[in-house]
Amino acid sequence: MSLPSEVRIVEVGPRDGLQNEKAIVPTAVKIELIDRLSATGLRSIEATSFVSPKWIPQLADAAEVYGGIRRRAGVHYPVLVPNLQGYDRARAVGVEEIAVFAAASEAFSQKNINASIAESLERFAPVLARAAADGVRVRGYVSTVLGCPYQGEVPLADVVRVATALHRAGCYEISLGDTIGIGTPRKAAAMLAAVAAEVPMDALAVHFHDTRGQALANILACLELGVAVVDAAVSGTGGCPYAKGASGNVASEDVVYMLEGMGIATGVDLPALVDTGRWLAAQLGRETGSKVGKAGV
Ligand code: HMG
Ligand code: MG
Repeated sequence: MSLPSEVRIVEVGPRDGLQNEKAIVPTAVKIELIDRLSATGLRSIEATSFVSPKWIPQLADAAEVYGGIRRRAGVHYPVLVPNLQGYDRARAVGVEEIAVFAAASEAFSQKNINASIAESLERFAPVLARAAADGVRVRGYVSTVLGCPYQGEVPLADVVRVATALHRAGCYEISLGDTIGIGTPRKAAAMLAAVAAEVPMDALAVHFHDTRGQALANILACLELGVAVVDAAVSGTGGCPYAKGASGNVASEDVVYMLEGMGIATGVDLPALVDTGRWLAAQLGRETGSKVGKAGV
């Protein structure tokens, strides 16, 4: 067991959080959210998605959002890109880091991006080539690493295969997503260990949805194996519209509280993050989804 001394939080609220909201969140709120988040010390903030607006109307204003944020020095603002069309739209507004997203389950891949896993990897190849030529950093996601809403069990070998393919294709970091929050700590650790046998641990991140209240326990189990990058969404918003029941990413406030409480540095100002989470909840007209946000610090 070797807990890392520092963890980088990848804040995915503006993207994974807001892509699943029923009501369309005003562009100005999205921009203010990102600017508030960058003032908390977060170094990676996933800003939006340049996907098809027919598929995700919630993020149809990606160009306006990206163009409207105050870009703080030292902060990365990755965006989701599914194909070359998305890449061109993102580059047109000055995006410098993207994330491509594949799944370990065939059924989920079809529902989410209308492609088989193999087709999706083929589709990313020219995106990765352009990104390499342009000096754009690329993060890769693997979804459904602990279970699929359509297929059920997902063999570990499939998770390892897709993660390895994305890493070999040039993604600097692979985020392993429990899309429907179905995993428990031993399974999460076994999955991470299997991937880490092929992809270096310092190129891995974990991405837990808290659908069944397991996210913090799963994160801790993975930290014990040495992972040092954790995705989370302020106020615990989020989910994927193509994954039924995929409510709530783990709340960033709760992750920062746990890590700082264990003496693991995040560089994040927790009171400022809690304020931002409460502000966002008020904008969305509901209570914050963060336990720490409710209790205070
Ligand atoms: P498709 O329908 O097969 O694609 O969708 P297409 O090429 O036939 O295009 C259909 C229409 O969309 C066309 O418009 C294209 O121009 C347009 P039309 O000719 O009908 O007017 N289009 C685009 N428009 C703008 N930007 C683009 C773009 N691409 C096509 N980039 C596609 C295939 C991949 C595009 C679609 O399935 C898609 O956009 N899917 C995105 C789904 C998504 O964003 N899901 C949520 C993110 S993944 C997630 O949340 C999981 C994660 O958090 C990790 C975890 O939790 O596991 C990352
Ligand atoms: Mg997600």
